[in-house]
Amino acid sequence: MDRRQQIAALVREEMAGLPVEQADADRGHPLVLAPYGADEVIGALEALLSTRVTMGEKVRAFEAEWARYCGAAHGVMVNSGSSAVLLMLAALVETGRLRPGDEVLCPAVTWSTSLFPIAQAGLVPVMVDVNERTLCIDPDSAAAARTERTRAVLGVHLLGQPADLDAFADLLVLEDACGAHGAVYKGRRVGGIGAASAFSFFFSHHISTIEGGMVVTGDEELANALRSLRAHGWVRERSDRAAWTAACPQIDPRFLFVSPGYNLRPTEIAGAFGLVQARRLPAWLERRRANHADWCRQLGDLVTVFPEAAGTEHAGFAFPMLVEGDRASAMAALEARGIETRPISGSNLARQPAFERVPGARTPVPLPVADRVHEHGLFVGNHHAFGPGHGARLRETLAAWRGL
Ligand SMILES: Cc1ncc(COP(=O)(O)O)c(C=O)c1O
Repeated sequence: MDRRQQIAALVREEMAGLPVEQADADRGHPLVLAPYGADEVIGALEALLSTRVTMGEKVRAFEAEWARYCGAAHGVMVNSGSSAVLLMLAALVETGRLRPGDEVLCPAVTWSTSLFPIAQAGLVPVMVDVNERTLCIDPDSAAAARTERTRAVLGVHLLGQPADLDAFADLLVLEDACGAHGAVYKGRRVGGIGAASAFSFFFSHHISTIEGGMVVTGDEELANALRSLRAHGWVRERSDRAAWTAACPQIDPRFLFVSPGYNLRPTEIAGAFGLVQARRLPAWLERRRANHADWCRQLGDLVTVFPEAAGTEHAGFAFPMLVEGDRASAMAALEARGIETRPISGSNLARQPAFERVPGARTPVPLPVADRVHEHGLFVGNHHAFGPGHGARLRETLAAWRGL
């Protein structure tokens, strides 16, 4: 055994049993369980020991693999899901696919950094209600909010439920798939539905690169803008760099800047994690989906649940519910039994203090479902290591809370 093999053997010994594949319901119901094992750490160590740690081969390989999985031609990895949403919108403006001041429809119930980047890219966020059965954007509410300046929709696949985006065929359809890895809508995997899509690989997501994210798209010109804007605005990773270089002979191509960019790059450590985690995803996804279906059956008479919609495959990110009566007491009852809870993402984002400071953001239509989510919604964790026992424990706890 050479030294590298010895190191790998030690890591395997040290990390035996990880990632967690099966968790006992009696030991609680956390939001996150250790999501990686020896293979990810060995991949990351290879990068560290080689000293090639800044964005390189491993990131490129993961980008290609994830884009292929989503059915998109290009993947551009970044350092978070929030960065992916920001980069996607900035690149759409950079390429003229959207213009400053264009209105973008955004569901009121989503994560904060689905909304904020719309305004950060110079676009106007228009908040619309979510559907009471899916918690994703409601096409009727969206239709009522449209004006002649509406150009795009940000379809958020909330907590693993793929959004119905069929009604938006005349708009630029963008996906926020940060919490819906592998979900399927009418035979199409999320990420491959819209003109561009954003993913998060944060620690608690279906697969993780610790922090990380990616934009996938089939549009090569957009992919080039994404690559420049991700890394200082320079030309290096663009497929059309030869043309740029020829057009600017007076500038050293190593430091040729072609767009007003950011630095949102990931590291090779993240790339190494992504490559291993992507291989684990299909089996993990099956268990999350089965949990979602099973827990909907087990809890449906106690709380409002959100079963997989017909023609879709739910990715079971977290398990949302609406409770009657006092939400705080339901959360307290769950937490007392080691079942971690959170509100449903930002709930009605228009009611968050930051909303009034989002330039131009508008709420032209009523948001009754978002309001209900705001007051009565909560989620608990779903995880590939959980099973029917976790559903039974949720049932027992919620039945006792309701005095049944
Ligand atoms: C719908 C949605 N968008 C964006 C994000 C932001 O991703 P990140 O935490 O990687 O920045 C999240 C995070 O959970 C999310 O759920």
